[in-house]
Amino acid sequence: MAAFLLSFVAITILASASANTNITEILDAYPEYKEFNDLLSQTKLADEINSRRVVTVCVLPNGGLSSYTGKYPLSVIKNILSLHVLLDYFDVPKLHKISDGSILSTTLYQTTGNANGKLGFVNITVLRGGKIGFGSGIPGSPLDCTLTKSVKQVEYNVSVIEVSQAIAPAEILAAAPPAADVNITDLLVKAGCNSFASYIVSTGVLKVYESAVNNGLTIFAPNDEAFKADNAPDLSTLSNAELVSILQYHALASYFPIGTLKETKDKITTLATNGAGKYALGVKTEGDSVSLETGVDTSRIASTVLDSTPLCIFTVDNLLLPVELFGKPPSPAPAPEPETSPSPSPAADAPAPESAAAPAPVLSPPAPPTSSPRDAPSEGPTADSQNSTSGNSAGVLEAPALMRMVLTVAVSYLRVFCCPKLSFSMFACIT
Ligand SMILES: *[C@@H]1O[C@H](CO)[C@@H](O)[C@H](O)[C@H]1NC(C)=O
Ligand SMILES: *[C@@H]1O[C@H](CO)[C@@H](O)[C@H](O)[C@H]1NC(C)=O
Ligand SMILES: *[C@@H]1O[C@H](CO)[C@@H](O)[C@H](O)[C@H]1NC(C)=O
Ligand SMILES: *[C@@H]1O[C@H](CO)[C@@H](O)[C@H](O)[C@H]1NC(C)=O
Ligand SMILES: *[C@@H]1O[C@H](CO)[C@@H](O)[C@H](O)[C@H]1NC(C)=O
Repeated sequence: MAAFLLSFVAITILASASANTNITEILDAYPEYKEFNDLLSQTKLADEINSRRVVTVCVLPNGGLSSYTGKYPLSVIKNILSLHVLLDYFDVPKLHKISDGSILSTTLYQTTGNANGKLGFVNITVLRGGKIGFGSGIPGSPLDCTLTKSVKQVEYNVSVIEVSQAIAPAEILAAAPPAADVNITDLLVKAGCNSFASYIVSTGVLKVYESAVNNGLTIFAPNDEAFKADNAPDLSTLSNAELVSILQYHALASYFPIGTLKETKDKITTLATNGAGKYALGVKTEGDSVSLETGVDTSRIASTVLDSTPLCIFTVDNLLLPVELFGKPPSPAPAPEPETSPSPSPAADAPAPESAAAPAPVLSPPAPPTSSPRDAPSEGPTADSQNSTSGNSAGVLEAPALMRMVLTVAVSYLRVFCCPKLSFSMFACIT
């Protein structure tokens, strides 16, 4: 017991020693930057900042962004804010010592891949009289944003400085239509996800996606190769309800840009659901590579098709196969969401959910308390996800008997025609 406690403590210490900066916490100490701080959280830029080791944040006092907020969508505000996050460490002495009096610093906006020319850079110049001027990296841009004061430094990693006004070049203000106007299928087709696009149209899942967009939506679209892979299930053998479930499993009812995924420790809930709860995904980050783990398979996030608050679309290398439909997880089943079942208690006539969803006792040692739980995807069971337009999605899946039948048929088919390994794990699941 003592040894266990000791190792527990050791893990705790290790976890906190490697913990990254929390920009929200730093700025919480300064009410004069509350608006800026709130926007960093809303746009999830806070996660992106926290995932970086060396960063300088140029904050604006409350009111400093008032000519943009309300006038532009959050996606544009996010881009403006990204220009205020420099990927280098600058405290005031270092700013005054800039060699040759002028440099271009890379900003977070540059990492979006949307920055043309020098748009993703900020020009920092020591002006006549010793003032420090900031402006867009685009040649000839005004340097009318100036350093006001130092706010906080965690040497030599994180610096927060205050500047006089926003850096908001016209190119940034002109970008991005509102998320609700985005044609999701069109983007998917252009990104090489034709199969996925036609499935979401034919099943009606696109409507579910579209009705979720305004409150936040993240889509993981398998590319066309993923559908042709040897280990991909033959979707034509699945019932419409299963297909709908799988497609809903490829989306989250919240905005999860890549920086937020990287910082995610807990499982994230998808749009797919059965009576027992929402199907979840795990996230694994290795350096710059982010993978999603279903318990059946793992899929790398291959590219970002769109990151326009509150909508994010990624391509993934493999189909995401939910444990609930494709097999048991190697370890205990995903614990039921800690959200103490706010959903209506299982309908009286609905038998217990399939074994995969059963609250399995947690056999492994307690997970190391990796920092405080991140703000869990806070979407309640949204109307959209519950009221699937394709009507039959949830209903059928809630009825294990029918499900078992459907799966048995699918398995027999798979046994004959497809990879025996998959059919075996499906068989194991239903027997
Ligand atoms: C950062 O700090 C804020 C405010 O104190 C807190 O709500 C949030 O959970 C923290 N984030 C992390 C990753 O610890
Ligand atoms: C920064 O902007 C000033 C004024 O436009 C320009 O003279 C200078 O060359 C720029 N610095 C860099 C490093 O591009
Ligand atoms: C600052 O970053 C360096 C690597 O760039 C790292 O070794 C060091 O631990 C960091 N310091 C703090 C206080 O996080
Ligand atoms: C969206 O794009 C698809 C594919 O390009 C097209 O078929 C569809 O008509 C478009 N939808 C709207 C509403 O424009
Ligand atoms: C779900 O659909 C039913 C029937 O169409 C409707 O009565 C109900 O209000 C909807 N629920 C939500 C949360 O929108």
